[in-house]
Amino acid sequence: MNILGIETSCDETAVAIYSQHDGLLANCIYTQTSHQQYGGVVPELASRDHVLKLAPMISEALADANLSADQIDGVAYTAYPGLVGALLVGATLAKGLGYAWQVPTLAVHHMEGHLLAPMLEINNRPEYPFIALLVSGGHTQLYDVSGVGCYQLLGESLDDAAGEAFDKTAKLLGMPYPGGPELAKLADQGNDSAFNFPRPMLSQPGLNFSFSGLKTAVAQLVWQHPDMDDLMRADIAASFQQAVVEVLVEKCRRALAQCQRDSLVVAGGVSANRSLQTALKNICAPARVFLPPASCCTDNAAMIAYAGLQHFLAGKQDNSLEITVKARCPLS
Ligand code: KG4
Ligand code: ZN
Repeated sequence: MNILGIETSCDETAVAIYSQHDGLLANCIYTQTSHQQYGGVVPELASRDHVLKLAPMISEALADANLSADQIDGVAYTAYPGLVGALLVGATLAKGLGYAWQVPTLAVHHMEGHLLAPMLEINNRPEYPFIALLVSGGHTQLYDVSGVGCYQLLGESLDDAAGEAFDKTAKLLGMPYPGGPELAKLADQGNDSAFNFPRPMLSQPGLNFSFSGLKTAVAQLVWQHPDMDDLMRADIAASFQQAVVEVLVEKCRRALAQCQRDSLVVAGGVSANRSLQTALKNICAPARVFLPPASCCTDNAAMIAYAGLQHFLAGKQDNSLEITVKARCPLS
């Protein structure tokens, strides 16, 4: 079974093909750049870019996979959560292709795609059950996962997501959107104990998070030092990153203990952060930590095709031409 995956929930246009027997055959990702000058994603621009890029990328993915359209057995697309206009572009094309190719379509939850992305790793796949930490630009959540479709929410951010905190802090330090990866690079040159930023919700029981206060603490420091030098910027970046990492790692450790699990999956854009990866592996041991392949940490369609395949195999599909997309939608 070959599944075409389509992802258009935010500012990445992505198309992939996942084969039940041969694994990932194509993984095309286009990251939109038109938003940078605005300091954040502009929904209308995102939708327009998806319209321009998506159809040619489907031809590109088929060529990469060396398949013709009649060898595709189903189309999976991100239907929620995300920017409604952007989601509609992918959902409409997916439905159109399903109708034209006479194959079933399937709506996929974007966060389920992230959660299952470590399954795209060929040599080091997690086995159920496991704890999943989802850390993206819009979500910070912990789940107890007992199988495909069995996701129990253990805790989540009450305000900003971890990726959002990275991006807002990067902006305060003068970096263009999305600043998370660049802030992480700058942090490598700084001292992570130079500033003692708060570790939000660490002293409280439970598995929820809060990152908006941490961002405010950085903002106050930045405003007090309008003429800060590069070394101080690096120290702030490193100290901020350390505070986020400590909170995420400790909540993962607690979740593993609470649910008596010995595997931890980490996915979503922030899972690309090297300091987070290292700290999780060190502090959560002996639990094993599983990550997506590097190219599938941030938004991609491989995870959507993979998640879609799992549901097709379980007998789910949708042949109607009705399109439902949602800005918000719980996973569990
Ligand atoms: O999962 P994703 O690609 O999109 C959403 O579904 O939101 O995550 C994007 C987020 C952005 O906030 C970005 O700054 C952050 O992931 N990110 C990182 C790193 N790479 C991406 N944050 C920290 N360190 C990184 N290396
Ligand atoms: Zn995402």
